[in-house]
Amino acid sequence: MLTLAIETSCDETSCGVVRDGREVLSNIISSQIEIHREYGGVVPEIASRKHIEGIDVIVQEALDKAQVGFEDIDFISVTQGPGLVGALLVGLSTAKAMAYGLDIPIVGVNHIEGHICANYIEHKDLEPPFTCLIVSGGHSYLIDVLDYSSYKLYGRTRDDAAGEAFDKVARALGLPYPGGPFIDRLAMDGDGSAIDFPRVFLEDDSYDFSFSGLKTAVLNYLNQLKQKDEEPVVADVAASFQQSVLEVMVEKSFRLARETGRDRIVIAGGVAANKGLREMMENRGRKENVDIFYPSIQLCTDNAAMIGSAGYYNFINGKVSDLNMKVMPNLGFLD
Ligand code: KG4
Ligand code: ZN
Repeated sequence: MLTLAIETSCDETSCGVVRDGREVLSNIISSQIEIHREYGGVVPEIASRKHIEGIDVIVQEALDKAQVGFEDIDFISVTQGPGLVGALLVGLSTAKAMAYGLDIPIVGVNHIEGHICANYIEHKDLEPPFTCLIVSGGHSYLIDVLDYSSYKLYGRTRDDAAGEAFDKVARALGLPYPGGPFIDRLAMDGDGSAIDFPRVFLEDDSYDFSFSGLKTAVLNYLNQLKQKDEEPVVADVAASFQQSVLEVMVEKSFRLARETGRDRIVIAGGVAANKGLREMMENRGRKENVDIFYPSIQLCTDNAAMIGSAGYYNFINGKVSDLNMKVMPNLGFLD
């Protein structure tokens, strides 16, 4: 089965062709980051306009790169939510037009499920069940993946998403948007134990996350230095902040794996690109005999191929949408 997949939930216009949920024939990603960077974050109206400008060309590029035509496509996969409403609408309208014109099925995909499925593309033999930590710019979830398209939710963020915390702290340190990759790089040269920022574990049995207290602690630390006219050691702040975030994420992931009897932990979403997170997971995994999986950097952040993979597993499980489907900007995971 060949699917043409579209992803426009935020600031990447992406289209790809995926065979049987695992094999990527093309995955064209046009990032708007440079445009939004000037504003310190994604400007929704600009994002929508850029998606409209690019989408037709990117669809054609995806077909060309895959060396297939519209007539070869069996169904369309498209991100239905969560995301920016105007941005999602561009992708969904394009997808509906193609499904209608070609008279083929359309499958609405939850963007968060797409992030999990990026791992199916990267690791051809990976099969459920496994523990999954999803950490992106907008979401943080800890789930037990029971089967393809079947999940049990254990934890979510109560305030900021993991990537959002990285981006806000980076902004306070004067780093460009999105700040996650800059913190990651700086942290390598810094001392993670230089500043004792809080580790927020919440209740003993909770799998939820809370990152806003940590973010406030970093901002307070920077303000106190400023009042004393002192300069922060930026690499140490980055490393200490990152250490706090990672320790909590890794600890909770391993606790869930233990509780559910899983011997594999899969990480997904933009923050899964973080080198510190990958290393900490792998070190702990070696000690506890747990295998760690994550996608390559390009598949960690938003892309259409992951939507095509999720679309395939929805499709073969009978989860097909119709042309009346609407964008769902506030769609959570397992809502
Ligand atoms: O998954 P994604 O592309 O978009 C959402 O669905 O939200 O994630 C983007 C987020 C941003 O917050 C970005 O700062 C973060 O992922 N990110 C990272 C790294 N690369 C991207 N955070 C930490 N370390 C990284 N290397
Ligand atoms: Zn995403």
